[in-house]
Amino acid sequence: MKHKRIILPAPEPYLNRRKKIIPVSAPLFDGNELAYLTRCIKSGWISSLGSYVEEFEERFSAYCGAGWGVACSSGTAALHLVLAAAGVGRGDEVIMPAFTMISTANAVAYQGAKPVLVDVEPDTFTIRPDKIEGKITKRTRAIIAVHIYGHPADIDPIKRIARKYKLLLIEDAAEAHGARYKGKPAGSLAAAACFSFYGNKIITTGEGGMVVTGNKKIYRRAAYLRDLAFSSARHFWHKELGFNYRMSNLQAAVGLAQLERVDKLVAIKRDNARRYTALLKDIAGIGLPPERPWAKNVYWMYAVTVEKEFGISKDRLRARLAQNGIDTRNFFIPINLQPIYAGICRGNFPVAEELCRKGFYLPSGFNLKKDDIAFIVNTIREARLCWWTRR
Ligand SMILES: Cc1ncc(COP(=O)(O)O)c(C=O)c1O
Repeated sequence: MKHKRIILPAPEPYLNRRKKIIPVSAPLFDGNELAYLTRCIKSGWISSLGSYVEEFEERFSAYCGAGWGVACSSGTAALHLVLAAAGVGRGDEVIMPAFTMISTANAVAYQGAKPVLVDVEPDTFTIRPDKIEGKITKRTRAIIAVHIYGHPADIDPIKRIARKYKLLLIEDAAEAHGARYKGKPAGSLAAAACFSFYGNKIITTGEGGMVVTGNKKIYRRAAYLRDLAFSSARHFWHKELGFNYRMSNLQAAVGLAQLERVDKLVAIKRDNARRYTALLKDIAGIGLPPERPWAKNVYWMYAVTVEKEFGISKDRLRARLAQNGIDTRNFFIPINLQPIYAGICRGNFPVAEELCRKGFYLPSGFNLKKDDIAFIVNTIREARLCWWTRR
């Protein structure tokens, strides 16, 4: 218990609202968003029956190099739909990284299955392929590889394991629109992939998500379960338990307009990352986000670690940034340390826990200016200097 207390981040620091606030993320709506929304309103097609939903599904799945898309209400719903469509259920086990957003584990739990955790690689923060086989049992049905903070997981060795044990491989690409693995787009790397379009994502629909897949069976079942499992032969006739996970035409209208500019949006994220890296690289004790040679990292969030050498802890640095109006976020708290999974997901995941202890992300919004980045980096530099001169 003492161990856990040390790992868990401090309560959120006070954000000084008397200063100019630099938010952790902000969307960019400088395309056809308003025009498409206006068309929805003027035509009256605002529910999931409007034509933007299908168009968004077709275009986004094509962008990912996948055959089909099932638009839905969130990334969490997308994960749940894939598992339900594949028949993962009570008593089954699903392997996933310990270091991920709660949604990855929750989607498994919604189906009555058990998340089985694997530690992550220190240099990509994604699941360790060499630790997966040791976690496979007779009950294992699927592996979820999460492309964390925009960096793809090392998918080839995971694919080999999935093939060997006949397991369903799913990408959790909620944070990785436009990312690439050995030149191939996120969304085309496994049997199915799940994206989020929440307000802080690379393309957004406010709230929303999508399953993309090249597997016709998964596609058909996911589409059917998303819409309350309505029978096609007879309306209001339900033989199975479905969900209302539909996406509205209004959301899809925004998504489509965002998708038209996805290359620009990815380029902004990568430019911001380049600027941060150039300024931060000579500050001792700040660990910079990874980009392995085989990866295109889309830097959904610019993720850094605070090492001992820096002099002050991550929590103190975040507090200092917050005093200056700079909003930041802690890294995810590993699933094994979440109270709702205590007792279910036991084990030691030293890398995931270490990342939680020392990692946070800096403002990474589409509205971030060159000067903002310079100000943020200077504030980090000063925090360190202050500490060293006071010693
Ligand atoms: C890795 C990961 N998986 C799943 C999700 C769930 O997406 P949503 O918030 O749209 O439900 C998120 C959301 O941020 C995420 O970061």
